[in-house]
Amino acid sequence: MKQIILLSAGLFSLFTVFAQDNISIIPQPVKLTENQGHFILPATITINADGNPGLKTAMAELSERLTLPTGYHVTMTNSGSAVFRIGLNKTADPELGNEGYRLSVTPGKVTITANQPAGIFYGVQSFLQLLPPEIESNIRVADIAWNAPCVSITDYPRFGWRGLMLDVSRHFFTKEEVKKYMVQMARYKYNVLHLHLSDDQGWRIEIKSLPQLTHVGAWRVKRTGLWGEFLPALAYEQASDGGFYTQEDMREMISFAKDLNITILPEIDVPAHSLALIASFQNLSCTQLPYSVNAGFRSPVRDDNALCIGNDSVFMMLDKIFTELAALFPCEYIHIGGDEAYKGFWADCPKCQKRMTDEHLKNVDELQSYFVKRMEGILKSKGKKLIGWDEILEGGLAPEATVMSWRGMKGGIEAAKMNHHVVMTPWDYCYLDLYQGETSVEPPAYGMCRLSDSYNYDPVPDSVDEKYILGGQGNLWTERVSNYRHVEYMTWPRGLALAEVYWSPKADRNWDHFVQKMEAQFPRLDAEGTKYALSAYNVMYTPVRIKDSRSFSVKLSTEIKGLDIYYTFDGTNPDPYYPKYSGEPLNFPVGATQITANTFRNGKQVGKQITLKKDELAARLNQGRHQY
Ligand code: ACM
Ligand code: ZN
Repeated sequence: MKQIILLSAGLFSLFTVFAQDNISIIPQPVKLTENQGHFILPATITINADGNPGLKTAMAELSERLTLPTGYHVTMTNSGSAVFRIGLNKTADPELGNEGYRLSVTPGKVTITANQPAGIFYGVQSFLQLLPPEIESNIRVADIAWNAPCVSITDYPRFGWRGLMLDVSRHFFTKEEVKKYMVQMARYKYNVLHLHLSDDQGWRIEIKSLPQLTHVGAWRVKRTGLWGEFLPALAYEQASDGGFYTQEDMREMISFAKDLNITILPEIDVPAHSLALIASFQNLSCTQLPYSVNAGFRSPVRDDNALCIGNDSVFMMLDKIFTELAALFPCEYIHIGGDEAYKGFWADCPKCQKRMTDEHLKNVDELQSYFVKRMEGILKSKGKKLIGWDEILEGGLAPEATVMSWRGMKGGIEAAKMNHHVVMTPWDYCYLDLYQGETSVEPPAYGMCRLSDSYNYDPVPDSVDEKYILGGQGNLWTERVSNYRHVEYMTWPRGLALAEVYWSPKADRNWDHFVQKMEAQFPRLDAEGTKYALSAYNVMYTPVRIKDSRSFSVKLSTEIKGLDIYYTFDGTNPDPYYPKYSGEPLNFPVGATQITANTFRNGKQVGKQITLKKDELAARLNQGRHQY
C-alpha cells in the first residue's frame, strides 16, 4: 500500500513537472522555441566535448552542477552517442559573437555550440535553468524527476559589459563571500565584477611597496548600529575591524572569476573618497590634518577626504599603487573613481594654487581634470584604460576616458556625444543600496529604486548612438550593508531585472513575463541558499492631494499585477474578509489617524502588513517618487 502511494506520488510529481513547463530563463534568450517532449537526465551522463582543453572550465561547471544535487555520474567521451555534445564552431557563427550560443534540447540529447568557451558557459547556464530548481542545491536531493523541456535556443547578449559593483570598502567582504557573489552573478550572465576597493572607510588591496596602506588603511574601530551616527574613534581604541585582500588572494579571485567568464574591474577612488589613503600617509591632503579610517561617523572636518593635487608626492604614490594594480589585474580598465570631490580645500591650498598657475588652469574643475588626465597618462603607460564616475567630465574629459554615468544618464549622454565610451549606472535605476519597497518595512537605506524601476530602464537614451554604450551595472554601495546576507537581499531580485536589461533584446522586455520567471527563480535561489527581497509584493502608498483642498487621499497599488489589497483604518489586521481596495484613492474616515493594508493572491498573503500614519503620508505629499 505504502509503495503504491509513493508510486502515485511520484507519478503526480512527474506529471506536475511535465505539465508546468513555463520556461523561465533569466535573462530572456534572444530566440527560444519550445518543442515537444522532454529530456530525461540519465544517471550516467556522457559528455563529448571533442577533448577540447579550452572547454575544460565549462565542462567542470556542467559536470559539477549536474552531479552534486543528483548524485549521478559524468563520463567524458569522444563518442557520437554522448548525451551532451558541447563544441566550438570551426568557423565563427556571426550571429553569436563572443558570448552567444545555440542550445538544442531533444528527448535524447543536449547540444551546445558557440564560437568561444564563454558562449558554451552561458549555454550551460541556460540549460541548467530548464532543470528543476533543486539542481541549484549544494547537497544531494532525492526523489526529483531531473527533466528538462525540449527547446531550441539561439542567444547572445545585447551588451558586452554586464556588471555588478560591490563596495568592499564601507564594509569588507571576505574572499569567499566575493566568490559566492560571483557564482550568483554568473548564473544570470553577468560578466564584470566592479570592486570598489578604497574609500574613506577602508583600503582593501595589498600594495607591496606601501605596506602602511593596509597596515593602517584597512582597519577601523568597530561600530555596530546605524551608519552615519556612530561615535568617532576614541583615543584608546584599537582599529580592529576591516580587512584586505592580499595580492595572492586577489589572484585567486581573478582566476575564479575567469572560470565564470567574469572580469574583475578594480576601483581605487581618487582624488576624493581617499581618507583611508590619507590616514595611512598624512601628508597627502591639502590640510595635512591627522585622521583615522572612518568607521561610519561624521568627520570632524566635513569633506576633507581629497588628495592635494599640488603635491607631487601624491602622484608618486599613485604611480606606485597603479603600477601594482596594473600588474595584478588583467582587466583592460582601471577605475579611478573621481566622484564627489569637494574642491574647497584645493581653492585654499597654496600648493594647489601653484599647480593651477603653472598649468594655466582657470578653476578647480580644471584642476580636477588635470588630475584625471595625469591619471590617464599613468594608466596608459601601464597598458590600461581609464574609467571614472561622471564627475570626470567636469573641467574637460581626459582624451580616452570611459565614463560611468551615475548621476542619471546626463553624463553618459554628454560623453557619448563626444565619442567616448560609457557604462550606464544611473542611480535611480541601478543603485542596489536604495530602498526597494515601502520604506517603513525595509532596513535603512537612502532613496528609492524599485524592482520595476530597474526592469523598465533602458541604458541607451534616444539621442545617443548605441555603439558608445558598452553596457551597464547595478551598484551596491555598502555603508548600510554590514553583512553578506544583506548583500544578497539588496542584490536580488533587482539583479535579475538588470541582468535582463543588459542581456536581452529591448523589444522582448515584458514586465508580467519577467515577474512570472522571477517567481520561478525564487525556489532556485532558495535551493542554493541565496537571500532575496520580496519587497515588490508590498503595498505602495501614494498620497494624492484633493483638488482645492489642504486634505489628501491615499492611492494603494502594487508593482506586481494581479494582487488584491485589503485595508483597514482601525488598526486591525486586514485579510480577504476585510474591505478590498477598488483602485479609487481612499479618504481617511473622520478621526482615523492611520491606514493598514496588505496584499493577497488567490486569498493567500504575499506581502507584508504595513501600517502608515496619516501624518507620515502628509509629509510624503511633496516628495519625489524616488524618496519613498
Ligand atoms: C557615487 O555614487 N558616488 C559614484
Ligand atoms: Zn592642495
